[in-house]
Amino acid sequence: MVRVLREKIKNKGLYQEHEMKPLLTPSILAANFANLEADIKAAEKGGADYFHLDIMDGHFVPNISFGPWVAKLMKSISGVPLDAHLMITKPREYIPKFIDAGVELIYPHMEASFDVYRTIQLITDLGARAGITLNPATSVKTVEGVLDLIDSVLLMSVCPGFGGQKFIPTTMKKITDLRSLLDEQKPSVRIAVDGGVTLDNVGDLRKAGADFFIAGSAVFKAPDIEQRVRDFKKTME
Ligand code: DX5
Ligand code: ZN
Repeated sequence: MVRVLREKIKNKGLYQEHEMKPLLTPSILAANFANLEADIKAAEKGGADYFHLDIMDGHFVPNISFGPWVAKLMKSISGVPLDAHLMITKPREYIPKFIDAGVELIYPHMEASFDVYRTIQLITDLGARAGITLNPATSVKTVEGVLDLIDSVLLMSVCPGFGGQKFIPTTMKKITDLRSLLDEQKPSVRIAVDGGVTLDNVGDLRKAGADFFIAGSAVFKAPDIEQRVRDFKKTME
């Protein structure tokens, strides 16, 4: 399902049509780090649109993952764009390092700092694209304060910190509520969903209004990664 959006071009009174194509973003957290290159190449061959880097500091979430060096490593094995999901309490200290490493899109958490607007400004000032992430219990209304700077909103459909958790069903209503808020205030902003995304729920998530699908275990724990990515893309569209 490709959503077509008619958006007014600022100050010109003209309308422009955008295609809101669904994009699949495998999260490498679930990949085999002993043979990362093989997993990444298989997902790339299947048609992965982005790769998702889950950055965890052991403070904001009860787990530690990896830093900007993995972004650099990814850039040496794949041309697919990268996003970084920053589950860290001091995002501004690390944002320049992720951008230097080649990350195109950065998602700090709304809950990580009271001055998240400043964090997002740093991302856009350094020339990357910015999104904002909301935990399951954070209201979609909170995005209104940062809408002028962001391209996408990442809705967590599990509590962040670990791969392989079960999708929280109330996320469906958050997607529809957020889509209507965005349609009124900034229709070009995309909705990403992260956590427990599978072949079984991705069709419903798309119908509810999500555009970017982040999937870890459902992609990298599959017996045939390349085929699984193809199956996802077919089901999303
Ligand atoms: C959770 C991460 C997710 C996770 C998704 O903190 O933000 O990106 O890797 O993994 P699955 O798809 O296994 O739920
Ligand atoms: Zn994530």
